Amino acid sequence: MKREGRQVVCTTAYDAAFAILADKAGVDLILVGDSLGTTYLGFKTTVPVTVNMMAHHAAAVCRAKTDALVVVDVPFAVAAGSFERLLEVCALFMQQCGADAVKIEGGEDMAPNVRRLVQAGIPVMGHIGLLPQRVIELGGYRKFGKTEAEKAQLVADAKALEAAGAFCIVGEMMAADAAEAVQKATSVPLIGIGAGTSCDGQIIVSTDILGLTPGGAPSFAKIYADLGSAAREAFSAYAADVREGRFPVSKPL
Ligand code: KIV
Repeated sequence: MKREGRQVVCTTAYDAAFAILADKAGVDLILVGDSLGTTYLGFKTTVPVTVNMMAHHAAAVCRAKTDALVVVDVPFAVAAGSFERLLEVCALFMQQCGADAVKIEGGEDMAPNVRRLVQAGIPVMGHIGLLPQRVIELGGYRKFGKTEAEKAQLVADAKALEAAGAFCIVGEMMAADAAEAVQKATSVPLIGIGAGTSCDGQIIVSTDILGLTPGGAPSFAKIYADLGSAAREAFSAYAADVREGRFPVSKPL
């Protein structure tokens, strides 16, 4: 798609119902992101999300049997541990859950593990720029690649991941000209999120697209349907009907 200049359309899903909706809409790639933690599980960051939580939701998405490629996030601290454990987790996601690929946060530092996974037959999506799993260490969310040094590091990260065999790379919260430099420096697609227009595709968290993110969507996202407001109104109408005796209604026999 990158060679043909076609944008890769990506979003997230955490269950079969929304995976089917995204797939039927023609989304190319569904990520079972560890954003699961902040969107559905009530956590403040993705750090508390475990392998078991990811596997539970990944299996549900995979049961939807989508045409879209299903990628599952490797959660906090797994990729930085032993390679044997990482391989076990990725094999679980692919063999037991049915994932097509995995995503790992990190650049040059993760390239050796990415290479070994690819050699073991596991397709890997990279993730550079803002790494939400390191948000506690970073002290908050911010844009990456604003300085020449950071931009050069992002390009080096992307090249290392490509050389290791990653089939595409997410670039999160990157300055627009850093994203452009990465996009030009690599032949694998750069999928942007808060990274401007010079990417080969975009990903937005599905709850942001649908107005369902607790606390609201980030400023770079676009709400295409405010299902959050619609759901609140539906719950209020239901509550009022029950309290005021309009529901249930007795039907004539
Ligand atoms: O977990 C996630 O949803 C992600 C996207 C923000 C790319 O990693």
